[in-house]
Formats: sequence, C-alpha cells, structure tokens
Amino acid sequence: MKENQHEVLEVKSLSCFLELENISYGWKVGKKVLNRCNLSISSSGLWMLVGSNGSGKSTLFRLISGLITPQEGQFSCSFKPALMLQNPDHQLLLPSCSSDLLLSLPPNLDPMERHERINSALRQVGLEDMADRPIHTLSGGQKQRLALAGALASQANLLLLDEPTALLDPSSQRSILEIVRKITRQSNKTPITAIWITHRLEELTFCDAAAIMEQGRLGQWFSGHQVIQKFI
Ligand SMILES: Nc1ncnc2c1ncn2[C@@H]1O[C@H](COP(=O)(O)OP(=O)(O)O)[C@@H](O)[C@H]1O
Ligand SMILES: [Mg+2]
Repeated sequence: MKENQHEVLEVKSLSCFLELENISYGWKVGKKVLNRCNLSISSSGLWMLVGSNGSGKSTLFRLISGLITPQEGQFSCSFKPALMLQNPDHQLLLPSCSSDLLLSLPPNLDPMERHERINSALRQVGLEDMADRPIHTLSGGQKQRLALAGALASQANLLLLDEPTALLDPSSQRSILEIVRKITRQSNKTPITAIWITHRLEELTFCDAAAIMEQGRLGQWFSGHQVIQKFI
C-alpha cells in the first residue's frame, strides 16, 4: 500500500489481499493495454478508478476477475471477485428476481438457506418486496441493484463495478452509490471491498480513495476530492 493511502483512508484491514505487480497484458501482439501496472488493496472500502477511454480499466477488471491472465508480472488475489457491468441486461438471465439470484448460489444449499440468502441480498439493495417480480418490469436502477444483489448472494467480497451508473438517471445513480458505500462500511457483516470505475467525477465524492489510470498504468491513491481537482 502506498504511503498516502494511510492519510486518506480510514478503512478496515482485511485478511484478503489483491496485489498486482508490474502487470502487462496486450489483446494484440505488441500493443500493451496494461503496461507494468501496479495495484495493491488489502482494506475494505470503496476505491474508484478514473481514466480516459481505452486506458485499460475494463481490461484490468477482466484480469482481476480471472477472465484473462497476465502476460507479465505478478498477480495474487485472495478475494472472491464479482464483476458488474454497465448494462444489467447483459448479466440478468432468469425471468424473476429470486430465480435470477438462484444462479448466484451454490447448488448444494438447503431450501431454507437459499431463501434466507436471497432475501438478505434483496434486503441489502432495497428490493425486499420484489422477489417474485418479473425482471422486465424493473427500472434500469432496480435492475442494476438486482445485479448487485447477485454479487452479494454469491458471497463475493470484492465487487468490480465497471461504470455501473453510466446508464442510470441521477436518482438511481445516487441510490447505487449509497448502497455500495454502505455495504463497504458495515461492521456487522463480512467486510466488502469495492473497486468502481467511473467517468462521472461527482461520484468521486463517495469514495475512500481514487486513482487515475493512464496508458495501462494506475497512479497513486488520492482522496476523491483531490482527483476531482486534477480534472477541473
Ligand atoms: N476483448 C477485447 N479484444 C480486443 N481488444 C480489446 C478487448 N477489450 C478491450 N480491448 C482494447 O483494449 C484497449 C483498452 O480497452 P479497455 O480496457 O476497454 O479500456 P477502458 O475500459 O479504459 O476504456 C482498447 O484499445 C480496446 O480496444
Ligand atoms: Mg471500460
């Protein structure tokens, strides 16, 4: 962890860690999308990443979630990650809220436990009355909250949120921000770490720390306000 992280963060230390050391990755031979990228997280909290299009942010998430493997460098992650995309329609599959959440659960749970996990995930995202609602009747914001419930039901402890509010209106945007911030701070449950990619600078006011991605490399952590100052 870089020195200044200690100044800007008051977050809980975890036994889990995510460590990328000089990671490089290219989709095509010769062109490095991630270029000696370093990242280290071992605390819960809401960490945000900003950077121009094509700087490698989504590729970084694919690598952390295990969809691609680094071509150079050291990668270690003891978190259980869950990736959340911009468009929830790309990840919600079954017709009702509760049936979709079933996909996130291990197959061997008994019915009581299944029920409890689904209800708890729906409660955490404010959809407790919607277990039987057909997904096509949900608003965009509710769909995104359901996708988040899927990540929670799977007991992931590292949420990788790739511009999760890009398609949402301001009130749904705020609600997702508040829910994610809350679940990264709750002291009575398993601590959750969230890394959130955004282009919307106002979202940086919600984070514990933020870093800028440039040409495949992440800079140091700053407070959200410090990063906003760099862009205005
Ligand atoms: N699946 C893919 N196949 C080939 N090239 C890709 C793929 N995904 C991303 N890229 C390329 O990698 C570069 C970085 O993209 P990306 O990681 O999506 O950046 P960002 O999320 O910061 O906009 C871009 O040039 C993009 O075209
Ligand atoms: Mg992207």
